[in-house]
Amino acid sequence: DPDANADLAVLVRSIPDHPRPGILFRDLSTLLLDGWGFRTAIDRLIATLDAGRVDLIAGIEARGFIVASALSYALTKGKIMLRKSGKLPGEAVGIDYALEYGTDRIEMHVDAVRPGTRVLLVDDLIATGGTALAGVSLLRGQGAVVEEARFLVDLPALGGADRLAAQGVACRSLLAFPGH
Ligand code: PRP
Ligand code: MG
Repeated sequence: DPDANADLAVLVRSIPDHPRPGILFRDLSTLLLDGWGFRTAIDRLIATLDAGRVDLIAGIEARGFIVASALSYALTKGKIMLRKSGKLPGEAVGIDYALEYGTDRIEMHVDAVRPGTRVLLVDDLIATGGTALAGVSLLRGQGAVVEEARFLVDLPALGGADRLAAQGVACRSLLAFPGH
């Protein structure tokens, strides 16, 4: 049922022309302000998971940490912080990825996973998938098995979920906003 989460969709604020003219920004801060909305969103994400097949949860800085933290607590799973550049104190590896304008970089501690560790990748939103694909590459480069990813919001017109699927990552999101 595509409208199953309509009660959550109304908690996402849409801001026209942010950050640039023509972009309709899907703002999750209003869902986060709503205690019932956030709890319900996390509970429904958990309902899409087979927790027995997950060893660790990886969240992508910054907004992915909000989702990863809640899932980690609820499922009693450890979490990995995929951090922006230069923040990790231990031995780390990183990957650069393209944004619409410019590039960014995420890094992880090399001892966060062992070969075969099953990692669930999470973020608040998937658009082009560039960020999530960088996370998948980084984790797989350290030997992790990444077969599942979860997001609160998908912007399917930007193709990210399809790109993840092409890399063998099953991707589910609670809310999808067609168009941009
Ligand atoms: C946003 C969002 C996702 C990513 C999605 O993060 O939180 O991580 O963009 O876009 P993509 O699928 O096209 O890569 P942003 O880089 O704005 O940073 P933040 O999470 O630190 O706010
Ligand atoms: Mg982000």
